[in-house]
Amino acid sequence: MTRAISLHHVSKAYTRGVRVVDRLSLDIAPGEFLVLLGPSGCGKSTVLRMIAGLEEITEGDLLLDGEHANDLQPSEREMAMVFQNFALYPNMTSRGNIGFPLRIESPGEDSGPRVDATARMLGIEDLLDRYPRQLSGGERQRVAMGRAIVRQPSAFLMDEPLSNLDAKLRSHLRAEISTLTRQLGVTTVYVTHDQAEAMSLGDRVAVLRGGVLQQVGSPRSVYALPRNVFVAAFIGTPRINLLRGLIRAPIDGAMSINLGRQYLRLPEPLSLDHQLLRVQQGREVIVGLRSEAIRIAKPASARPGEVPISGLVEHMEFQGHEVLVHFNTGSQPAVVPDLEAPYPARAIRRRRREGTVLDRIRERAGALRAGPVVVLDDPHDAQPDPPAPTAQESRLPGDLVVRSTPDIELRLGMQIPLLVDLAHLFVFDQHGDRISPASARLPDLEE
Ligand SMILES: Nc1ncnc2c1ncn2[C@@H]1O[C@H](COP(=O)(O)OP(=O)(O)OP(=O)(O)O)[C@@H](O)[C@H]1O
Ligand SMILES: [Mg+2]
Repeated sequence: MTRAISLHHVSKAYTRGVRVVDRLSLDIAPGEFLVLLGPSGCGKSTVLRMIAGLEEITEGDLLLDGEHANDLQPSEREMAMVFQNFALYPNMTSRGNIGFPLRIESPGEDSGPRVDATARMLGIEDLLDRYPRQLSGGERQRVAMGRAIVRQPSAFLMDEPLSNLDAKLRSHLRAEISTLTRQLGVTTVYVTHDQAEAMSLGDRVAVLRGGVLQQVGSPRSVYALPRNVFVAAFIGTPRINLLRGLIRAPIDGAMSINLGRQYLRLPEPLSLDHQLLRVQQGREVIVGLRSEAIRIAKPASARPGEVPISGLVEHMEFQGHEVLVHFNTGSQPAVVPDLEAPYPARAIRRRRREGTVLDRIRERAGALRAGPVVVLDDPHDAQPDPPAPTAQESRLPGDLVVRSTPDIELRLGMQIPLLVDLAHLFVFDQHGDRISPASARLPDLEE
C-alpha cells in the first residue's frame, strides 16, 4: 500500500508568533517521489517530522489518504524514516538491525525470511552477520535503508540520508534509492539542500525558503520557469547570472536592457515575451542569464537572437572538462538573500519601509515573511554612481560566469567578445518575481 500525503496550510511555530514553516500546502500523490529542497534552516526537517508525527502541527491539516491525521500516533502512520545519522544498534549485526522493527511489531514471528528478502533487494546478503563497526559508511546506510523498508511502509521519509557520504558513493546510492523506491512504488518525501540531488531524484521538487514554499514542479519546470530569483539562483550549476538592468523602450526606437556600461538590444521583430517587457519601460529589473545563454564568440558569428557584449576576464575556475570564466561586464549583480545563509535576512526586513498597499497585502498573505527574495536599492535613494558593492556582492570576482572549453586560450585582463542568446533571457521584477518568459511560452511546464 502506498499513501497520498496532503498538507493544507500547515504551519509550525516553536515559539509563539515565529513560524518556521508558514502555511505550507502540498499534495503528494501515491507512489510519488517528492523532494523538499532549500537552504539550511528553511524548515525541511520540520516538515518531514510533522508528516512522521514526531512534531506537533501548530496550524493546518495533514491528510493521509484523505483522512485527517494530525493526531495519529507515529506508529499508526505506517511510515519509515531514514535520517542523516543512520543510528544502527552497535551491539546488533546487520541481520539484527534490519529485523528489529519486525521483532517489535510481532515478537513471536520468525523475521528471517523477510530480512533475507530485504537484504537481497539491497545487495547486502554478505553483510548480514557483521556489526556496524565492521561496515563502511555506504554499507551502513544500506543496512539503515533495510531497516526502513523491511516493514513495507506505506511511505518513506528521508532526511538528507546521503549527506555523510563521499561524493562518489552518494551518487551511487542516489541511483539505488531511486530504483528501489520506484520498484516498491512507495510514496517518498526526500529532504536535501543539494539541488543537484533534488533534480536527479525527484518526480517533483518543492523549493522552500524561510519556511515558505516558493515553487513546486518537475525538475524541468523549476529550472526552465523559476517563479522568482531565489528559485532561479538556487537551482542549476553554475549559478544563474543575475544582473541589475533597466528597461529602455522608446516609442520610436529599438528596445534594450541597460546593464550599466553595456546594453542588450532586443532583436527585432520582438518576440512575444520581449513585447511584454515594453510596459516595464524605465523600470529597474533583474536580468537572469544561465551559462547556456552566453558563449565566447565574435559579433560576426552571431546567430539569430544573439546579441554582442564584451567582458574582462577576472577569474578562471578550471574544472577539467571545462573552465568557468568570471567576466567583468561593468554591470551590478543582484543580491539574493538566504541562498546559503541559515536565516532569512531579518536585518533587511527591518529596513523595509511601510511599502505600498500591495506590499502590505502580500505581507499579510505570508509571501514576504522570509524577507524580499532580492535586494535592490530603494529606487528613491538611487545614486547616479553605482553604490559600493556589499560584502556579499564583492565575494566573487566578475559579474558574469560563462562556461568555456579548456582549449580556448584566455588570460586574466583580456577583453573578450561574448554573445548572449536572448531566447534564454529571464527577466524578474524588483521583488524578484519572474516577468519573462511568460508561462504561456512553455504551457506544458507550468503547474
Ligand atoms: N525544537 C526546536 N525549537 C526551536 N526552534 C527549532 C527547533 N527545531 C528547529 N527549529 C528551528 O526551525 C527552523 C527550521 O529548522 P529545520 O531543522 O526544519 O531546518 P532544515 O531546513 O532541516 O535545516 P538543515 O538543512 O540545516 O537541516 C530553524 O530556524 C531552526 O532553528
Ligand atoms: Mg534538516
